[in-house]
This record gives sequence, structure tokens and C-alpha cells, in this order.
Amino acid sequence: TANQMWGGRFAEGPDAIMTAINASIGFDKRLYAQDIAGSRAHAAMLAATGILTNKDAEAIGEGLLTVLSEIETGAFPFRTELEDIHMNVEARLKEIIGEPAGRLHTARSRNDQVAVDFRLWVRDQCDAAIAGLEALIRAFLAQAEAGADWVMPGFTHLQTAQPVTWGHHMMAYVEMLARDRGRFIDARARMNECPLGAAALAGTSFPIDRHMTARALGFDRPTANSLDSVSDRDFALEFLAASSICAMHLSRFAEELVIWSSAQFRFVRLSDRWTTGSSIMPQKKNPDAAELLRAKLGRIMGATVALFTVMKGLALTYSKDMQEDKEQVFDAADTLMLALAAMTGMVSDMTANRDVLAQAAASGFSTATDLADWLVRELGLPFREAHHVTGTLVARAEAKGCDLPDLTLAEMQAVHPGIRADVFDVLGVENSVRSRKSYGGTAPDQVRARIADWKARLG
Ligand code: ARG
Repeated sequence: TANQMWGGRFAEGPDAIMTAINASIGFDKRLYAQDIAGSRAHAAMLAATGILTNKDAEAIGEGLLTVLSEIETGAFPFRTELEDIHMNVEARLKEIIGEPAGRLHTARSRNDQVAVDFRLWVRDQCDAAIAGLEALIRAFLAQAEAGADWVMPGFTHLQTAQPVTWGHHMMAYVEMLARDRGRFIDARARMNECPLGAAALAGTSFPIDRHMTARALGFDRPTANSLDSVSDRDFALEFLAASSICAMHLSRFAEELVIWSSAQFRFVRLSDRWTTGSSIMPQKKNPDAAELLRAKLGRIMGATVALFTVMKGLALTYSKDMQEDKEQVFDAADTLMLALAAMTGMVSDMTANRDVLAQAAASGFSTATDLADWLVRELGLPFREAHHVTGTLVARAEAKGCDLPDLTLAEMQAVHPGIRADVFDVLGVENSVRSRKSYGGTAPDQVRARIADWKARLG
């Protein structure tokens, strides 16, 4: 039989496979709360503008609350032949309140309806991402505070570069995650315009009040172009893009945790709560959560590419292609929230091995740059020559099988006669990090100042 919502011009019902490919109720039922909120705001506005009687609008508003509670208690009969959440809700409303239900769709289309539902949903996810990021930032801040002056090797090319502080490394992630948070805040502000009232694509001849529905649903204003309102999904793409960048940051720290928790590095110990054992090798403690966090960007990025591909080249306005937006965004959002929570747990529970970090910081000729800088500052050597002298000293130490501070003064003077005993002061890692007190540098005082800045900003 033909569809009860639009079956007027149809003699036959759809093929079963058509129903299978066309229906979105299997996933868009997740929009039920937004759909009902949007319909209630619409009905109230229709009454306020005299388009509906108060009596009908009240019946609709009440009936929608009954539908809401049916869905929330699991009593709601979802029906695939009704395609999507919008028609499922409306059909059930008709069963509950009868004739007035048919008046709800006045001055509205599923095109503006789905646009407003989905915006509301994505807006909530921005809020969840912002909250999740704040929790994670606080976890990194706590790590940074505990070890603001612990020394560790800083790397480039994953080769020892210069000593840095643990606090400085943790604060690098605070900066990244704070920008991620800013991206969600910006995206939220930009998407916070209400498409409801754009109707199918052209607006409506009914005297609706779009400012009223926008306000009721917490939007800053109505969208300004009806064609754009029903055909745009860049709010979802922005959410996905921000999620991808954030997941990329998480994947980098995840990778560091995998490396750092290995027996070869032993920089950190992950807690039992965030690791797994092996069914055959009894000694194993695998960083599975970190590995999964390293991988999750694949899914989120995949969703981003998928939605871009759906939207690319779509002529205005709405096309059914756009129904493919939801599953991608749902999966990406679920993945991101889980990833943020897992990373927050792991960061809060991990323990830095301060001694191992200090030992590693002092090896690999990590203070070679300090030595070169000393030659420039104290002996007036051009930096290039100082670089060469230091390189020669590194080669001597390497041949001797020791680190730079283990060379004798005589061995150093054999390479450059001007070198004095006070050179040894700069070869120590503690002095090295303390000396890097340029703004944003690794010196513990700088790190503590940045921690204080962020604590003040986050409140
Ligand atoms: N389920 C549809 C979607 O998600 C709702 C909009 C349907 N509009 C239409 N003209 N068929 O996109």
C-alpha cells in the first residue's frame, strides 16, 4: 500500500529493497529528542502566529511529550516503512491525538526539519567535545605541575636533541588540545543559526516567526537564506574536521605512550587499568588503549572524507544523498568522545619514571648545543666554529664510550685550548633546562608560568 504521509499520487507501495535503501530510521532514531524539541517549538510558534489554534497546538505539544516518553521507555513502535524519525514521530502522534497531528507539518518540510534536528545534535556534540577536552587538559596540567622541573630528553627525528622538562612536554599537549577546544567553540558559534522555517527550500507563504523558533531552540538567530538552510552540511563538516585534528593530536601522544612504556624506554608506567596482558606471554603489559587511540583517527578521518565526498558537487538544494551525513557523524562523535575519555583516564593514571627520564636526558650528548653556546658566549667563537669544535668533542666522547661531561678538561683543551673548567656547569642537564628561559622555553619557571596561565583561563 502507498505511504500514508505522501501516498496521494502513488498507486503502489515501494519495493522491499527500495524500503531498505531508503529508510534511515535505523540510525536517525538517535535524533528523536531534537526532532521532538523542534516540533514542539514549531507548534508553539504556529499557535502564537495564529496559524494553528491554541487547542490544536496544545494537543500537539502534549502528544509529542507522550511520544518522547514512549521512545525513552522503549515502548515506541519504530517502523521502517515510515522511513525516518520525522515520519515515525508524526505518525505515532496521529495515533495518539488524531486529526490535529496532521496540522503540525504546516509551513514546514522534512528538509528544514532534518536540518534543524541535525544541527541541534551536532551542537550538543560540540559541547561534549569541549567538556571532554577540558577534562583532558586538566589531566595534562596535573602531570605538568607534578613534574615541572623533571628533566627528560627532547627529541627531533626521535633522536635525542636537547634536554627538556617533563612539564614542558605535557604542556605542549595542553596547547594543542586548547586549540582543539577553540575549534569546537568556533564551530559551535558558527552553526548556531536555526534553519527551521526554510521549509522545503524556498520559505513559506504562512506568516511564521522564525525568530521565535530560533530563540526557543537556543539558536542565536534564524539562517538567512532558505536554499542554503536546507542544503548545507558544512556545520557537520566543521565538526568532523575539528574532530579529525583533535584525534590526530591524541594519536601523537598515544604513539609516545606506546614508545615510552616499552621496556627499552621505560619513561612511563601505564596503570593496570589502561593496559592488557597476553594470553601466552606472562610478562606482558600491553598499551592497548594507547594503540587504539593511535588508530581512532582512521575512523574519524574516514567519516570526514566520506561526508566531503557525499557533499562534493551536489547541486542545490536538498538531495537524498545528504541522508548519508548522519551515520558518519554519529560514528565519528562516538569515537571522539570515547577517545577523549580514554586518554583522560590514561594520562591521569600514568606515572613518569623520573630517574629513567633524568638518566636518558643526560645521555646521547644532549647538552652539545649548550657546549656550543658556551664557546660562543665565553670565547667569542663564531657559532659555526663552535658547532665544529663541539662536534669534534662529541666524536671523541663517542670513541671513548662516554658522554660529554665525562671528558676531562685536558681532553677538551686538546680540541680547543681556550676551554675552561667552568664549561662543565653548562654540560649538566639541570642547568641546561634552567637556562632555556626564553618565553615559551623549557625552563621550569617558564613551564610554571604557562601552567598558571592555563589554570586561570580555564577557571
Ligand atoms: N531522512 C531524511 C534525511 O535524513 C530526511 C529528509 C527527507 N527529505 C526529503 N525530501 N526526502 O535526509
